Amino acid sequence: MARRWTNDLTHDDVTPEGLWLNRRHILAGLGAAGLAGLPAAGRAQPLEPNSWDDITSYNNFYEFGTGKDDPVRNAGAMDTSGWQVTVDGLVDNPGTYDLAELIGGLETEERLYRFRCVEAWSMVVPWNGFELADLLDRVGVQEGARYVAFETAVIPEVMPGVRRGVLDFPYVEGLRLDEAMHPLTIMATGIYGRDIPNQNGAPMRLVVPWKYGFKSIKSIVRISLVEDQPPTSWNKANAREYGFYSNVNPNVDHPRWSQATERRIGGGLFAQRQETLMFNGYPEVAGLYEGMDLTEFF
Ligand code: MTE
Repeated sequence: MARRWTNDLTHDDVTPEGLWLNRRHILAGLGAAGLAGLPAAGRAQPLEPNSWDDITSYNNFYEFGTGKDDPVRNAGAMDTSGWQVTVDGLVDNPGTYDLAELIGGLETEERLYRFRCVEAWSMVVPWNGFELADLLDRVGVQEGARYVAFETAVIPEVMPGVRRGVLDFPYVEGLRLDEAMHPLTIMATGIYGRDIPNQNGAPMRLVVPWKYGFKSIKSIVRISLVEDQPPTSWNKANAREYGFYSNVNPNVDHPRWSQATERRIGGGLFAQRQETLMFNGYPEVAGLYEGMDLTEFF
């Protein structure tokens, strides 16, 4: 597997009607201004990013409430200054770090990713972030580590969902080490070149674009390298409905609804339901699951 992510994300083969705008187009200016530079082969439509408003006002962040607009209304009260992250388990450099110290100097870039929520809606988000692999290299993953576990902050004073106990907090998530090291897996610290807003998981959240959105844990305060598969919040809440892997898969339905299609948030050009793509349109990750029955390991 190529260590660095270099692709400009053109997936015509998988999705004839979809074509990624690459970073240059995004940086050159969004929307019509960006289209001028698209490859001539493009019978395909550009993959339009959702608006800042869509991305930052329709959220899942249960610590701040279960309504889609609860995070934008409530998360502003969270103070992310002086944020610290604990790195522990099977690492060479365990410790509790100031975030700036932990991630300082890591190369950040903008990536336009499809985001597919398990509730069968989707968005396209221009994230700013760095590869999780670079952070893991920095802390030094030791022999024997097979999974990475993540934990979100718990600040009851500003988190009404925590006070009400709508889930078993802290929110926890996990990846197999090879998934965590994959160049598509990033830690996001921004959106549209601005600091990531609290409702989207400030100051740092995971983004794993081939998995359902709930794997992308927000406002991370702990990263642990571990030997055994770690517990995950939604699997703990309902193991029948939410597995550890949670790869986007149109062929494996959620017990209560189909995963074959999705509703693109934001309407306009994409108002119609779209077909959901295997691995959310990132076929390059298929090798991670070779030989696994994805109906069993969902
Ligand atoms: N992280 C925490 N800590 N708490 C949450 O409730 N919700 C998850 C995920 N990360 C969640 C979380 C779910 S269900 C989704 S769909 C995405 O965050 C939503 O990310 P977004 O609000 O940036 O679209």
